[in-house]
Amino acid sequence: MSKKFQISLIAEASDNVGYGHAIRTGILATSLREKGHKVNHYVLGSKINNKIFRNTKFIDNSKKVSQKTECIILDFYNNLKKSDIYHFKKQTKKIISFQDSKNNNKLKFNGLINFKKKDYNSKSNVKFFYGLKYLILGENFTSKKFKKKDYIFLCFGGSDPLNQIPKYLNWIKLSKIKKKIYVAIIKDSKKLSKFKKDNQVKIFINSRKLEKLMGESKFAICSGGNILAELLALNKNCLCISLSRNQRKFVKLFSNNSNLNYLGDYKNISRKNFLHKFNILEKKVFSLNPKPINKFGAENLSNDLTNWLIDQDQKNKTKVFNKDDIIKDYEKSFHKKPLYKKLHWGSAASMKSRHNFLEQIINFKKVSSWLDVGSGDGSLQKLILNKFDSINCLGVEISKKLHSLSKHRKLKNFKSINDDFINLSLKNKFNLVTCHGVLSKTNFSLKDFLKKSNLMIKKNGYLVFDITNLHWKKFENSNFFKEPAHNWFNPYEVKKLINNLKNFKIIKILGLKSGKNKKIKIKDTHSVFYVLKKI
Ligand SMILES: C[S@@+](CC[C@H](N)C(=O)[O-])C[C@H]1O[C@@H](n2cnc3c(N)ncnc32)[C@H](O)[C@@H]1O
Repeated sequence: MSKKFQISLIAEASDNVGYGHAIRTGILATSLREKGHKVNHYVLGSKINNKIFRNTKFIDNSKKVSQKTECIILDFYNNLKKSDIYHFKKQTKKIISFQDSKNNNKLKFNGLINFKKKDYNSKSNVKFFYGLKYLILGENFTSKKFKKKDYIFLCFGGSDPLNQIPKYLNWIKLSKIKKKIYVAIIKDSKKLSKFKKDNQVKIFINSRKLEKLMGESKFAICSGGNILAELLALNKNCLCISLSRNQRKFVKLFSNNSNLNYLGDYKNISRKNFLHKFNILEKKVFSLNPKPINKFGAENLSNDLTNWLIDQDQKNKTKVFNKDDIIKDYEKSFHKKPLYKKLHWGSAASMKSRHNFLEQIINFKKVSSWLDVGSGDGSLQKLILNKFDSINCLGVEISKKLHSLSKHRKLKNFKSINDDFINLSLKNKFNLVTCHGVLSKTNFSLKDFLKKSNLMIKKNGYLVFDITNLHWKKFENSNFFKEPAHNWFNPYEVKKLINNLKNFKIIKILGLKSGKNKKIKIKDTHSVFYVLKKI
């Protein structure tokens, strides 16, 4: 069971800015609760009756959020006030936001959703949750099918805060376009009164059937917020105009979607260009989008937010396992098939390529006595001892079941003992000690391992082991997280530790690229291999 956190989500909602922010945080709150977290959902605005908001607290002031929490997730249309950000900072060490904010002063937040690291020239340690993988949509936009009718849907979110609807209606009216336009807006506006008697225009105020209006339309004219995502999920061609910096960035998420026709920022759109694009869309047959928009955004986001919180929580803390934890862990997976699963490898190919890699980097020709720490099922011995018959190998394996599996192989020149390496006492010394795939999850520290191995290796003998790499560059990517059950090592700290102990000379430090049998740079690898010579 992974750790549970106290999380608060705070969104803004009003007729003016719309309800999209409140709805998506409501959906995310439900998903986070389902994962077992203790979640508070606040909406800054007056009460809304919708089942998503069953457990929501409606507040009139950000300061009403005054409970200490482990993470705050913000979703505001407007730029946040500095004083609000400072207030939230007092409640938590971690703030994640759906919006970048000018007051954010280049990343006061710890994480941003829907933003790319690339767009920030910042070295600061901010997590970016980016991609359609995280798109949150209500079920009504991903599951229903609608009849197709011959009108154009127009909506700029909420109550059209920048008053764009009259401009586009006027442009349409002054052109030769005769298509019906259905306008959706949350509250009535005087600016629309002149269109109310117009036969070509139909205005829907606070429609309860918004998704039907959207779903039945031929195509849509819309702003670049959640309404765009919803329309694209309904497979609509969209003529999209962004109303804010956040929307400009949000629209980029859909740059590969063939139904998106992006006109740009609202300030820079010419009537000519708008009408040109409109006419192209009008002539198009109904939109076809081969790749449906993913339905699991909330689940993906709550999973990865959890991963990130666990990762932050464990930063610099080494996980300490005891002997029983390790035995249980491998006994539990012993029933699994195929074999690589019993040993916790990712695939048969990665297990094989790792063993081949060891064969490449160790000069087995010169080895006569070999101790393998955590020898598992004896697969590595099978590969090596068949080729080098002058080697005698002793395997030490803590799991009884894996130990007997290796014994049943009846390999020539191989003996195995069922014991905990760190308690092992042997008279003989070896000219090679290996320890492969063990250190990320075992009951001894790297330092104890180095000290103990030192006692077991003859002078000029070799020690070869691998560690899981904390500096793997994949962890910089927004959607990639460390396996929380493992310890991850800083390869440079490991080098320092070896040098400080003064028992070994470092011969090689190598990166392994799983799946491919070739050497690579440290930052490009999940596992770093060390070849040491005893001095
Ligand atoms: C990921 S498997 C790797 C097996 C093998 N070295 C290989 O290359 O395929 C790790 C093995 O280390 C064993 N192990 C973990 N801690 C150990 C300890 N303290 N003493 C002996 N074996 C241990 C586990 O039981 C498991 O079989």
